[in-house]
Amino acid sequence: MRTRRWLILALVLALVGFLGWRFVRPLNIFTVSPAFERPIDTSAVPASVGSLRAEDCGRCHGAMYAEWQTSMHGRAWTDAYFQTDWRFDGSQQICKNCHIPLDRQQESRVLGFRDRDKWDPVLAPNPDFDPALQHEGVTCAACHLHEGKILGPYGDARAEHPVAKLTDPNEICLRCHVVQGERWDTFYQIPPCGTAAEIAAGAGSEPGRSGEYLVKNVAALGCVECHMPAVERPLVPDGTPRLARRHLWRGGNDPETVTRALDVRVAEQAAGSAHARAFALTLTNIGARHFLPTGTPDRHLTVEWRLLDAQGRLLDSRDETLERKVMWRPFIVDLWDTRLRFGEPRTLRFEFRTDREPRPAALAVAVRYHLLHESRRKRIGYANATPIAYPVFEETIALDATAQTGSR
Ligand code: HEC
Ligand code: HEC
Ligand code: HEC
Ligand code: HEC
Ligand code: HEC
Repeated sequence: MRTRRWLILALVLALVGFLGWRFVRPLNIFTVSPAFERPIDTSAVPASVGSLRAEDCGRCHGAMYAEWQTSMHGRAWTDAYFQTDWRFDGSQQICKNCHIPLDRQQESRVLGFRDRDKWDPVLAPNPDFDPALQHEGVTCAACHLHEGKILGPYGDARAEHPVAKLTDPNEICLRCHVVQGERWDTFYQIPPCGTAAEIAAGAGSEPGRSGEYLVKNVAALGCVECHMPAVERPLVPDGTPRLARRHLWRGGNDPETVTRALDVRVAEQAAGSAHARAFALTLTNIGARHFLPTGTPDRHLTVEWRLLDAQGRLLDSRDETLERKVMWRPFIVDLWDTRLRFGEPRTLRFEFRTDREPRPAALAVAVRYHLLHESRRKRIGYANATPIAYPVFEETIALDATAQTGSR
């Protein structure tokens, strides 16, 4: 009897200890894959492209350079939100392999790893480190340099530098935009930052053995078609016009791109009683083949209803959040995901009484895109110079009295 009690106590303590450890241990939210476990090797560089700096490529490819400079890729290192988040998260080396992926962009060389999960690299000083190149984030060579050649859609040899043909341009995106999470302690179908898996899920493919959606058909992903719009132009100032792609990569940081991808309609519906009115807001993701929002689970949408009186005073309000909610500790588990799948309309309803005093005079509806939650912003100490949220839809409906009388 006594030994059994001790045994149970020991087991309970072990379990509590284990869970306690799961709560305090460093949290690695994704699995390090061979695709990005190390920085990109730039030891074989064509002499004609010299420093590898974007500015150098820009001497001949001015249009691509100008566009890239306006993109988040060009700011993937200097972006204040990234810098704050990175420091808060312990300034880990692994983040650099996507945000500043070239070996020359990093102060240290990665010689190997101390742990099996490859989060703890063995580092040594890097004599080739170039601070100016570091500031370029996801620079031209990060996508274009491969084994001493410049990858391009044509692969013909009329350039000053050696070229090779890209098998599929979407392949380039996958290095950094796919993280897969197969691990015993994770329970989700779409990995954190699961843009590519969301497209696979939407295309009706079945999740793999581990329960996760895996990318099978790279060409069908369409990343480049949407994020690098086609344009006919010369690749170099004196070149002949060819089919090219704009180097823009607009996403969550660009209100216009998100607004265009979202179809929003508001319509009056039959209310539950004669002294009430009801409105329905229907949201459809018409522009993004992945979910909207996509990317890091911090991104979310809110739908905000505001009932106002004739003086514009707030009578009633309701906020709804469309987001992916992940429980990170003690295990990584998907709790819910209310983001918008491609082409699937979502309707939200707001009903209110009309016989209240003061009388409702207007209903304001807004849909807002958030780069991150305000609570997270505070926690990491991100002093944002630009807004962390912006409206993608706003409408104020006048609730004129005649319509109300008519419906009574
Ligand atoms: C001295 C001028 C010059 C520099 C510097 C230069 N390029 Fe080029 N590049 C060219 C020319 C010329 C072409 C061929 C244009 C054509 O086909 O019309 C070309 C073609 C390309 C292509 C298309 C290749 C294909 O055949 O599909 C890519 C991609 C490219 N360059 C990327 C880069 C990158 C990245 C850099 C910097 C690391 C760079 N270039 C630096 C002149 C240059
Ligand atoms: C070397 C890694 C890398 C590669 C390759 C890469 N990306 Fe990115 N991408 C990033 C990083 C890092 C960010 C986030 C930058 C930031 O906001 O700090 C990003 C951001 C984006 C964004 C979001 C912009 C926004 O407004 O938030 C889009 C869209 C995007 N990438 C599309 C693509 C496409 C399409 C490809 C393939 C042609 C591609 N990326 C290839 C690393 C990469
Ligand atoms: C995030 C990845 C990425 C980055 C960064 C990037 N490119 Fe590209 N680039 C591509 C892809 C993908 C294509 C091929 C698109 C296609 O299939 O037509 C391309 C095509 C090109 C071409 C061939 C013409 C065209 O538009 O198809 C040139 C030239 C080029 N890039 C130059 C540059 C220069 C210069 C920079 C830096 C200022 C740069 N690229 C940065 C992904 C990138
Ligand atoms: C049919 C067009 C379309 C296709 C295909 C598409 N995207 Fe997007 N993508 C969009 C639109 C529109 C947005 C802005 C709305 C949103 O965030 O979902 C966006 C947003 C993004 C963002 C921004 C996320 C953030 O955190 O700000 C990233 C990253 C991205 N896409 C990457 C990709 C990658 C990688 C692929 C291919 C695997 C891809 N997209 C395929 C249209 C597309
Ligand atoms: C496998 C490549 C990869 C690694 C590793 C990676 N990132 Fe990113 N990161 C991305 C891409 C791609 C995006 C943009 C698309 C998205 O939201 O998924 C991004 C976006 C971000 C953003 C949002 C920036 C914005 O524009 O709003 C932050 C912050 C960030 N990463 C921080 C980190 C930190 C901190 C680490 C290390 C713990 C890290 N990342 C590791 C690829 C990576």
